[in-house]
Amino acid sequence: MSSLKGGVGKTSVTSGLASAALAAGLKTLVIDLDPHADLSTALGLPAGQGTPVGELLRRPKKHDLRDHVRTAPWVSIASAKNKEDKRLVLDVLAGSSASALFDRPDLSRRDLHRLETLVAKIDGYDLVLIDCPPSFSGLTRMAWVTSDDVVLVAEPGLFSVAGTERTLRALKLFMAEYAPSITGTHVVANRIRDDFPEHAYRLKEMREMFADHLIEPALPELHEWQQVQGAAYPIHQWPTRTARAAAQRFDTLLAQLRRV
Ligand SMILES: Nc1ncnc2c1ncn2[C@@H]1O[C@H](COP(=O)(O)OP(=O)(O)OP(=O)(O)O)[C@@H](O)[C@H]1O
Ligand SMILES: [Mg+2]
Repeated sequence: MSSLKGGVGKTSVTSGLASAALAAGLKTLVIDLDPHADLSTALGLPAGQGTPVGELLRRPKKHDLRDHVRTAPWVSIASAKNKEDKRLVLDVLAGSSASALFDRPDLSRRDLHRLETLVAKIDGYDLVLIDCPPSFSGLTRMAWVTSDDVVLVAEPGLFSVAGTERTLRALKLFMAEYAPSITGTHVVANRIRDDFPEHAYRLKEMREMFADHLIEPALPELHEWQQVQGAAYPIHQWPTRTARAAAQRFDTLLAQLRRV
């Protein structure tokens, strides 16, 4: 999950997809690569629990990830609410400021492969989600080299749409040089308000500009997001009608991403 622009919803979309994956019973690993570690907070991971990914990246060949992944507290929320499946898997590699060391523009080719080396030994997951910081420095590029699919999150505004267009171009250049294994480059529109004509206009523009890349449904502006994230809850367990509608959109989005 990436974007050059900050605050467009990368972490929220990652957590929505993680919640959808948990609800669907997919074995999922989320990697919080952002030094701000917002995703670890949204997942309710207690601070200091687990070796953060930034520390593992220093010597990626040395570590066995199975010793460092932590079960997200969401698993117990989901299994308590569903009164069932203890086999639900949502594992986390925690984020921390230790990652910042690698968020440089001048990573060597060897450094670019650190995350790939770190995750190479894991298996048994249906899905791995990586939340990136808002830049195309070392961490995001490490994530791209490691990924099959890149999702760019965009808001329905002039600057965000224009920025996403530039990002797609930069991503294509990067793929040709460093990441030929990426098979999908996607754009997801976030924070759409049905009652804003400007948003309808921008969504139409995105459908035209990013025809081959835009995956739908677009995600709604959801006023509960702050509360959901503050309570460190999976959106699928939040008891409002609007949260349930948003959760359904994440289900569809996850299905789209797994199909393309
Ligand atoms: N669809 C949405 N509806 C309402 N609020 C949202 C939505 N998506 C994101 N937000 C809010 O916008 C803020 C920024 O979102 P988020 O942290 O997910 O963005 P980000 O791209 O990960 O930011 P950063 O670039 O800092 O990592 C958060 O307070 C979040 O709750
Ligand atoms: Mg974020």
